[in-house]
Amino acid sequence: MPKTHRVTFLRSGKTVEVGENEGVLGAGLQAGLSLAYDCRKGRCKTCMVKVDGIIDQADAWLISNEELAEGYALICVGKPRSDLRVHA
Ligand code: FES
Repeated sequence: MPKTHRVTFLRSGKTVEVGENEGVLGAGLQAGLSLAYDCRKGRCKTCMVKVDGIIDQADAWLISNEELAEGYALICVGKPRSDLRVHA
C-alpha cells in the first residue's frame, strides 16, 4: 500500500489523505473541493498555487525555477512527499 500524507486545503480547511502516487488536485476534487484547473498535465499553470511542504514537481513542465523557489506548485501533477498545506 502506497504511503499517504495529510494534505490541508487552507481555503476550505479540509484535510485529505493523499497517496504518494496520487495528484493533489485530483484528491481535492474527489473530496468535493472547487479548485481551478485546465490541462491537468502540468502545462498551463491554471492550477498553480503556493504549497507548504514537499511536493513532487517532476511532471510540472511549465513552472519556473523562480516560482518553485517562491513555493509555488502545479498541483495537478504534484504528488505529496510530506504533509502539505495548499493555499487554495
Ligand atoms: S491544470 Fe494545467 S498545469 Fe495544472
